[in-house]
Amino acid sequence: MALGSDQSDGAALDRDLAGLLEVETFDPPAAFREHALLNDPAVYEQAARDPQAWWVAQAEQLEWFQPWERVLDDDDPPFYKWFVGGKLNASYNCLDRHVLAGRGDRVALHWRGEEGQERDITYAELLAEVQRFANALKDLGVGKGDVVGIYLPMIPEVVISMLACARIGAPHNVVFGGFSAEAVRERMEFSEAKLLITTDGAARKGKTAPIKDRVDEVMGDLATLQKIVVVRSKGTPCQMKEGRDVFYDEIVATADPDCPAEPLDSEHPLYILYTSGSTAKPKGILHTTGGYLTGVSATHRYVFDLKPDSDVYWCAADVGWVTGHSYIVYGPLCNGATSVMWEGAPDYPHKGIWWELIERYGITILYCAPTAIRACMKWGADWPNKHDLSSLRVLGTVGEPINPKAWLWYHKVIGSERCPIVDTWWQTETGAIMITPLPGITATKPGSATHPFPGVFAEVLDESTGEPVTEGQGLLVLTRPCPSMLRTLYKEPERFLQTYFSRFGRDTYLVGDAARRDSDGYIWVIGRIDDVVNVSGHRLSTAEVESAIVAHPDVAEAAVIGEHDEDTGQAIVAFVTLQGDLAGDEQTVEGIRATVADRIGKFARPKRIIWSDDLPKTRSGKIMRRLLRDIAEGRALGDVTTLRDPAVTAQLEERVKELRAAED
Ligand code: PRX
Repeated sequence: MALGSDQSDGAALDRDLAGLLEVETFDPPAAFREHALLNDPAVYEQAARDPQAWWVAQAEQLEWFQPWERVLDDDDPPFYKWFVGGKLNASYNCLDRHVLAGRGDRVALHWRGEEGQERDITYAELLAEVQRFANALKDLGVGKGDVVGIYLPMIPEVVISMLACARIGAPHNVVFGGFSAEAVRERMEFSEAKLLITTDGAARKGKTAPIKDRVDEVMGDLATLQKIVVVRSKGTPCQMKEGRDVFYDEIVATADPDCPAEPLDSEHPLYILYTSGSTAKPKGILHTTGGYLTGVSATHRYVFDLKPDSDVYWCAADVGWVTGHSYIVYGPLCNGATSVMWEGAPDYPHKGIWWELIERYGITILYCAPTAIRACMKWGADWPNKHDLSSLRVLGTVGEPINPKAWLWYHKVIGSERCPIVDTWWQTETGAIMITPLPGITATKPGSATHPFPGVFAEVLDESTGEPVTEGQGLLVLTRPCPSMLRTLYKEPERFLQTYFSRFGRDTYLVGDAARRDSDGYIWVIGRIDDVVNVSGHRLSTAEVESAIVAHPDVAEAAVIGEHDEDTGQAIVAFVTLQGDLAGDEQTVEGIRATVADRIGKFARPKRIIWSDDLPKTRSGKIMRRLLRDIAEGRALGDVTTLRDPAVTAQLEERVKELRAAED
């Protein structure tokens, strides 16, 4: 069905979407299937029969300086090693090999700034810049194995910095630009970073936020941090500390242009990326080189059906999250793709900017989060309908379950029912996409990530028996080693074992998500089973937010839960008990929200704060979050027999009712 002018009429569109909802599965369009890189379902059986051979075939697509001696060392599960003895370099695979093959003039990145600035960077230019910066880092004393922090917005220098680190074997530790300087400091401290790369200021919807000065406020006393490199991006004035701080442009200008890529062991650490777990302390996910690159390049190629000579690919995530690491930087560059990199938000300078970018650059593959799709849906089909989106051929989603209505809107309004949708399930820990349709093979069902990628083994296990569920709900696990998986938690191997391998043993990776298998064997990921919440695809731990809230001087105790939210998937609700007989007012709410913004970042601020004289606790003093979730969502309370003081819940239910009435 083509988009007629009546489609801008919301009611007509709703009727069409409802009609589509009755269609249960969507086959890959015949024209797409015919030209797809993978279009024979036999690939699944082949990979299942001999997964190591499948991964070897993928690893062989990379350039190795030295071949491996052993594909998989599984002598000490779950501490697996892949492509043992092999040597390679991620930056060489992302840059040099394309330039050496005569593709140096291909645009690697079409960068577009918030105010419409454009910068096209070819593979040859990117290689030249990366070599200079890698040498500059060496001149500053960074060597193989030294951790380098990166706290940058969506500017080309963030990609250059990551690849320069990879070139010399310095694991990077990127912190998402939306995190506060306080959160950066914590991550630099945990990883003992030697150097931090940051910027003077960052563009935020027409304004400039000072970055370096904020970093200085908190970073002063960190003994391990010896140098700070400042990218002059927005011309924001900033203080430079003599002997510690240097400007990026100055050190690059004087650096040697030749920096051959260091041959690194396949298991050499490529990066650490901190992510939220069940406790307040973030987990340092450690990814290594050979297996990770194998996983991200293979999935990027086949899940998006990448044809690097003709595709223009855009992943609308931030580099600071794993999606950006794997599918803005390492996957696409490894595959020689031309990508678009957008500095800003989806609604600045206007709500149609995404669709303007698709038309401007002829984008063929779009990969984004369901939250963004829901926001665009709310803004209306008029915005995309103003633009020619006919270049698009594959659409992807990531980060959270996609509700069928958003899926159908994406399918119809953005993809004109022509583009397969790949709903990709994975995590910071898995490094690469694990459960996903293959666009030329899989019949999709809106809201299901469908089947494991070839060579990946996932099961849904019954919560009580631990037996595989053939139909129904249970816990999602991965049952075999996979090259792109995390190797450990940085400096916390015991926590690594405890978190992922204590429930079902050392051979079975506990994902932390609940999932359902339907009668056709499709997997539907439902959401987290631990105290991790997912707000707009941003992963947060309730304990992390609680510890930020109790840092407010008026707060005695706090309990945080994730509540279902139509726009952001989940939203943060905080139950807060104040000190003594203090009474909470608007000012306290704002104060608490500001404390959370300072400690973690604005995206972690609670949407709602509910004052409570006490929290529902068990007799042993444990907060019963399950009851808080029921209370917040207005559900009948489950089992309350273990409650110390049943009166507490009644009071909270009353408060929630009042709050809801006030909101309406
Ligand atoms: O709960 C799952 C959800 O996001 C979690 C991983 O978050 P993070 O490590 O920040 O990585 C996000 C980007 C890969 C998962 O445990 N999640 C991710 N993708 C999906 C999803 N839930 C449902 N469907 C998805 N496609």
